[in-house]
Amino acid sequence: METILILDFGGQYNQLIARRVRACNVYCEVKPWTTPLEELKALKPIGIIFTGGPSSVYLDDAPRVSPEIFTWGVPILGICYGCQLMAQTLGGKVTEAQDDSAREYGKTRTFYDTDCKLFRGLPDAGVSWMSHGDYMARVPEGFTLTAHSAACPNVAIADEKRGFYGVQFHPEVNHTDFGTDMIRNFLCHICHAKGDWTMGDYRQRIIASLRKKVGTGKVLLALSGGVDSSVAAALLAEAVGSQLTCVFVDHGLMRLNEGDEVEAAFAKWDIQFVRVNAEKRFLNALAGVTEPERKRKIIGETFIRVFEEEAKKIGKVDFLAQGTIYPDVIESGAGDAAVIKSHHNVGGLPDYVDFREILEPLRMLFKDEVRVLGRELGLPEYLVSRQPFPGPGLAIRIMGEITREKAELLRQADFIFREEVEKGETRPDQYFAVLTDTRSVGVMGDGRTYDYTLALRAVTTSDFMTAQWARLPYEVLEKASTRIINEVPGVNRICYDITSKPPATVEWE
Ligand code: XMP
Repeated sequence: METILILDFGGQYNQLIARRVRACNVYCEVKPWTTPLEELKALKPIGIIFTGGPSSVYLDDAPRVSPEIFTWGVPILGICYGCQLMAQTLGGKVTEAQDDSAREYGKTRTFYDTDCKLFRGLPDAGVSWMSHGDYMARVPEGFTLTAHSAACPNVAIADEKRGFYGVQFHPEVNHTDFGTDMIRNFLCHICHAKGDWTMGDYRQRIIASLRKKVGTGKVLLALSGGVDSSVAAALLAEAVGSQLTCVFVDHGLMRLNEGDEVEAAFAKWDIQFVRVNAEKRFLNALAGVTEPERKRKIIGETFIRVFEEEAKKIGKVDFLAQGTIYPDVIESGAGDAAVIKSHHNVGGLPDYVDFREILEPLRMLFKDEVRVLGRELGLPEYLVSRQPFPGPGLAIRIMGEITREKAELLRQADFIFREEVEKGETRPDQYFAVLTDTRSVGVMGDGRTYDYTLALRAVTTSDFMTAQWARLPYEVLEKASTRIINEVPGVNRICYDITSKPPATVEWE
């Protein structure tokens, strides 16, 4: 498989580079700059991209790469920090920009030498996105200048003979005009990638490798019904069928019909499917609890306990499978951010299950690629295109104490809201209902009501780290509101949440 190696120096947009490369149907892997050289070489990359990064190449503790990488005869594209690192390693000089004009941030009009293969076929000027405070005072021997801006004569450099290219700007971000074309030029005209990587190929390859690895062993997977664990289950079902056991713990806080839908989706495969209906157990454990973090902890712990009991019934398993996806892999190890919410993921590692190895068959795929693979494997669309749903389920959408009645009420209201949103033209990235703990007075027919206030939440986001409240059409909100009040007894008032994240979070708890 043709592979592009993306060497990660800690830049903000590194995942974006990987996505751009994959969008050109070329497979790539992101590796931290600390990866041993032999491991990088073993990937047999047809091209390498050095990412940006927050450091300065002239500092003692700056991330570096062994100069040996430049002797592999493989084309290299350095972006921002990666460009400066290339320049410095090959004998150029990088210094802190002395005056503001050489320091560039933001959208910058840039002029390109279109004879250079990187810019071939593109207009000779356009806006590029800059973010650098360092300056290449001297470019290495063999390099020519291939782009400039009003402030900076060496916005891009190239040694076309050796296949080395460097750009000070970020071609991977949307703000750079023709950035994706530049990346495509690098892949197709410089690395000579065929651009024929498809999910179908990937599926065959990964299934073959899973079969080889698992042999006659037993595999256990905790299935949540979310996209990732469902696709992982489908992949393993195809690969090792009867050796796979999926344990689906239904905590009774799923959305309407969700448990049955998940079960039905897996009926066609020859696998052991264990559905544990543990609603009572979860609700008992949660009785009287109102504090959000306590709810999360109780659900996480109860889940583990139920899963453990099921695993014991199955006996010794050789492999524990998880639906870890690529952003989880890239982001793991990223700093010690403050704990806002203790996320519970069903795929979390239980340390009590006796297993030999972990299988993470999706660890190289982005979310949208996971969805494509899910479709390839024949999973139903409602499972594959599902919006994210948190591990603790409706528990963190019911403010205050959780009861079966409240869960039932919320399930109905949430279903109606989702149905109405899905009829409309705007599809936010996440949309759901929240049952507040507030009651208010209303009037229905000729009578007074004193019922719950329900909140509707819809957000648009690309990464769920930040989110904007979705500007849903009033008609959709009105229809949902009217239907919920008419069809769900116990609710007499509906609010729409118009806070973004930050300062709010997507979920209410
Ligand atoms: P917040 O509320 O943190 O949500 O802004 C961001 C995204 O994460 C989802 N979320 C969870 N997902 N386990 C999960 O698997 C959790 O415990 C959890 N809590 C929040 C949330 O639905 C949104 O998509």
